[in-house]
Amino acid sequence: MIIKRIKGLSGEISIPGDKSISHRSIMLGSLAKGDTEVYGFLQGADCLSSISCFKAMGVDIENDGSKVIIHGNGLYGLRKPSDILDVGNSGTTIRLMSGILAAQDFDVRVDGDASIRKRPMGRIMNPLGLMGADIRSINDNGCAPLAISGRKLKGIHYESPVASAQVKSGVLFAGLYAEGETSVTEPYVSRNHTELMLKDFGADIRTVDKTVTVAPAKELYARRIDVPGDISSAAYFIAAGLIIDNSCITIKNVGINPTRDGILEVCSMMGADIIVEEINNDSAEPVADITVRTSSLRGCVIGGELIPRLIDEIPVIAVMACFAEGTTTIKDAGELKVKESNRIDTIVNNLKAMGADIEATDDGMIINGKGDLKGASIDCKADHRVAMSFTVAGLNADGETDIVGSECVDISFPGFFDTLNMLVF
Ligand code: S3P
Repeated sequence: MIIKRIKGLSGEISIPGDKSISHRSIMLGSLAKGDTEVYGFLQGADCLSSISCFKAMGVDIENDGSKVIIHGNGLYGLRKPSDILDVGNSGTTIRLMSGILAAQDFDVRVDGDASIRKRPMGRIMNPLGLMGADIRSINDNGCAPLAISGRKLKGIHYESPVASAQVKSGVLFAGLYAEGETSVTEPYVSRNHTELMLKDFGADIRTVDKTVTVAPAKELYARRIDVPGDISSAAYFIAAGLIIDNSCITIKNVGINPTRDGILEVCSMMGADIIVEEINNDSAEPVADITVRTSSLRGCVIGGELIPRLIDEIPVIAVMACFAEGTTTIKDAGELKVKESNRIDTIVNNLKAMGADIEATDDGMIINGKGDLKGASIDCKADHRVAMSFTVAGLNADGETDIVGSECVDISFPGFFDTLNMLVF
């Protein structure tokens, strides 16, 4: 995909449904009794991988592209799949599903693409192992493919060394089947969609500070789910609207769960012209319309508890920082190294190729805003968030930017380029 500088962006858009909530809707819907209807489901490749895995375990899931209906088989209704479960590129599918598979009465193998085969699974194998699970990395390297033999599990209290919603959720799912309560304490609170949704589906779950505790469940009950727009997808348009001259964009119906809204805090630290208009609703997942206008940004320091609240937005925040006055420091973000690509490397190397003043650190990066970038060929390492972030960079750079392998945007945002084109003038 070739990107050129544009004059400005203007208009109103909706963005696809939240990826995290869409995955969880399939998993909880499959384990619940009754029919779960999901509106606004993200039809991205990652969430379709979750659908195909649960279909392969005998769950009847209808997806007509606008609504997904999951005819749940109940907590004990999954069947042994006839083949290896393929999670594609989806870390969320493999880590959350491992917690469920660890407690079934069958054996299964789980695998994914080349990126998944490099991502650490020890972080989920360790706590599940403490619960009595039998999970083996087939190549003995702590990564997929995994061989999981279902076992009777026992509840544990787990102090997670990382703030990871995938780890927390995998352990909580296993906890539904365990003997006794299961709790997870995190260094910082990660996204809490699993907790909110489990409660909604009837589980006995409570959160005190950074600890979540779930009791074993007898049954989960089907629910209607309205998936809000994904703030991680909105982030590309927030950034583009702020850094590109003559721009004003409204993004409708964006989920602004406080465990996910770190980018809004960064926008206000950077002095952005942004209006967040909360839509009145009773849902546990708050939703807002967000309007951004071209702004003079200033650098800021991003670290600590903010990191899990914006971890997926760091690639595009780094692009914003190139156009901010002064220095932006991103720290405490070592987790970036184990995402779909090593995002410290992919961000820093590609922004350097575009002429940015940026240095990698062990747990993040330091960016001195220069106010300009030049077009370059971008190797996004098949990482969807890197492809979209550098598209935003290319829109505000001199010359041409070539996003090599841009089709990976379909992982989380099918129609990304069409949505963008609707705003260009
Ligand atoms: C996710 C959790 C985060 C995030 C990922 C989705 C989830 O990963 O980066 O895109 O849905 O639970 P970690 O749990 O590895 O931080």
